[in-house]
Amino acid sequence: MLAFASPTPDATPVWLVSAENWPTVKSTIGAAAAAFADRCGFQPKAGRMQLLPGEAGALAGVLFGIDEANAPTRDPFGPGKLATSLPEGVYRFANTPQDADLAALGFLLALYRYDRFKVSTAAPTPQLVAPDEVDAIRIQRIAESIAYGRDLVNAPANVLGPNALEQEAVRLAEHFDASVTMVRGDELIGANFPLIHAVGRAGTEEPRLVDFSWGREDAPKVSIVGKGVTFDTGGLDIKPASGMELMKKDMGGAATALTLARMIMEAGLDLRLRTLIPIVENAISAPAMRPGDVIVSRKGISVEVGNTDAEGRMILADALALADDDAPELMFDFATLTGAARVALGPDLPPFYTDDDALAGLIAGHSARVRDPLWRMPLWHPYDAMIEGSVADISNSGSGAGMAGSITAALFLRRFVEKAKAWAHFDVYAWNPKPRAHGPMGGEIQAARGLFELLSERYPRR
Ligand code: BES
Ligand code: ZN
Ligand code: ZN
Repeated sequence: MLAFASPTPDATPVWLVSAENWPTVKSTIGAAAAAFADRCGFQPKAGRMQLLPGEAGALAGVLFGIDEANAPTRDPFGPGKLATSLPEGVYRFANTPQDADLAALGFLLALYRYDRFKVSTAAPTPQLVAPDEVDAIRIQRIAESIAYGRDLVNAPANVLGPNALEQEAVRLAEHFDASVTMVRGDELIGANFPLIHAVGRAGTEEPRLVDFSWGREDAPKVSIVGKGVTFDTGGLDIKPASGMELMKKDMGGAATALTLARMIMEAGLDLRLRTLIPIVENAISAPAMRPGDVIVSRKGISVEVGNTDAEGRMILADALALADDDAPELMFDFATLTGAARVALGPDLPPFYTDDDALAGLIAGHSARVRDPLWRMPLWHPYDAMIEGSVADISNSGSGAGMAGSITAALFLRRFVEKAKAWAHFDVYAWNPKPRAHGPMGGEIQAARGLFELLSERYPRR
């Protein structure tokens, strides 16, 4: 559980110090403590920490360096580093941080560990009393939802295959009394999900589509779709070892959608939520789809398999076509869709795509406000020519020889969206390549916090 400590008068004070407030903090902590900090070479720079001795071996307080208020490098999650540097104990912020909610959230998120398979027991961690000015319950819920999503991404593919991912989705849905339906294996053919079937039929665990709906039936419709590839070998166009290494995280889009769904349901937002998770393993065996195969999708558009490694857009296409039938007010999809998105923007800044300028503005604004960074990239229509098929309507790999790969993937998805009032696609990475102030290396949930802000404002609990 990522939770705050209950308030106690014994909590050790932590002063957040920048060059600006250092003189003031010095006079507050007293001449002896200030001299001790100087003697230890403490400087009020981001990430520096100084313990202050009390009487008889006690800890009197802690100094922690942060950037000045308007420094461009300022990381509002910076105080999260305290969670991995402080000795065991209960702490409180002695002065209010600039973004108290992000500082507090950063601390909780930094406590996260994926230790399910560690035989040795984890060391006790420091705990933080929530600052007075924050909504502690809301922050705890957000932290727990992110931890839930990170756990899904971090789970190895032998532990979280299609059966287990389905179970996780169903468990979440049932916890919130959502109504769930599933289509599995060869039923996908009869129910008209040919692309999900084609991608997943080579796996030992059947491909499937989990579909759950929650909320007041006449509330505004919001539909979310997440790519659930529990492992991506690349299929017959197999990935090299270096490209396959992290592919347990190829269900990161599904984890993002489930995390956002959990936030929405827990907060009781006034919307009708539909969550669609197409789940497959992109495996290699005799029934595997082949390069050059043509499959007619649910929507009737024929898809040529230019590359069996461009499987994500195929399973999303059938799921998006289904979601689109309801003409939802908002439709989002999340997917670890392309390596090209990382080439363009790196691991920490996922691109999003939408034709709706008003929605783009809202997404950018909310995600920036809660520091869940996203960057709009264009659905550049002239590149539609790049996804034309040679014998089918469209090709899953395109003819751009790797150029504009994230854009052409988004343009592919766009073909399956017609009736939704507004749609945005998020090409997420779902991974921290190195530890950060607010979380260890490993699975990460991107975009969900920003979109939860947007939805909380637009569809508040009644
Ligand atoms: N899951 C991968 C994309 C990916 C790779 C995401 C690495 C994050 C990190 C996806 O299924 C894929 O393999 N895409 C190909 C598409 C290409 C064959 C058109 C890619 O991006 O190279
Ligand atoms: Zn792939
Ligand atoms: Zn993939």
